Amino acid sequence: MTHPRFVTVEGIEGAGKSTCLNVIEECIRRRGLELLVTREPGGTPLGEDLRALLLGHRHDGMADDTELLLMFAARAEHLHARIEPGLAEGRWVLCDRFTDATYAYQGYGRGVDRARIASLETWVQGARRPDLTLLLDVPVEQGLMRAGQRSAPDRFERQHVEFFERVRAGYLELAAAAPARYRVIDASRTIDEVVAQITTTVDTYLDQVAA
Ligand code: TMP
Repeated sequence: MTHPRFVTVEGIEGAGKSTCLNVIEECIRRRGLELLVTREPGGTPLGEDLRALLLGHRHDGMADDTELLLMFAARAEHLHARIEPGLAEGRWVLCDRFTDATYAYQGYGRGVDRARIASLETWVQGARRPDLTLLLDVPVEQGLMRAGQRSAPDRFERQHVEFFERVRAGYLELAAAAPARYRVIDASRTIDEVVAQITTTVDTYLDQVAA
């Protein structure tokens, strides 16, 4: 039996992460593999409290560095309390966003120096990196339109189109720089087409590593 893998899903708002997570979960469970599904920021009681601070409007205007450090504080707790123990116990971990989101949103979006993010990444994660990352890529206008049909906008959803254009471009750059880990899904297609792309991608990956 091969070792469990750490799988992450990324994308701008409205890219369809929830559907994607469900499809991946089903593909992994169908193989009889143990799986832990979680999210960032969040995934632990402390992390979920930090998520409320990060996404809510009580602290609108917090400094970019504060935002960055809170993301990594939530991540440190998440790794310590759930991700590392889960993997050590033989469970696959499927996480809705991880450090690529920090590069995309805080780095490309807010303009925080990416070297700072890299040093926090090494400090907090050691050698831990996702094994597979699905990037749901969608034009910003299409994503924001979908996201806008949901609940009231959180602190990130209130950002301007240009912010999300930078985030999207950042994600595509990250994907191009790490082609072995990333799979880019064209999330602008119909739901059925996107589900089919994700299923094929994940099944192919599972054939490779978990045969
Ligand atoms: P979502 O996961 O429900 O889409 O919302 C989380 C929001 O937090 C989303 O706008 C992206 C943002 N975020 C960051 O800015 N940096 C991060 O490191 C993470 C994990 C999320």
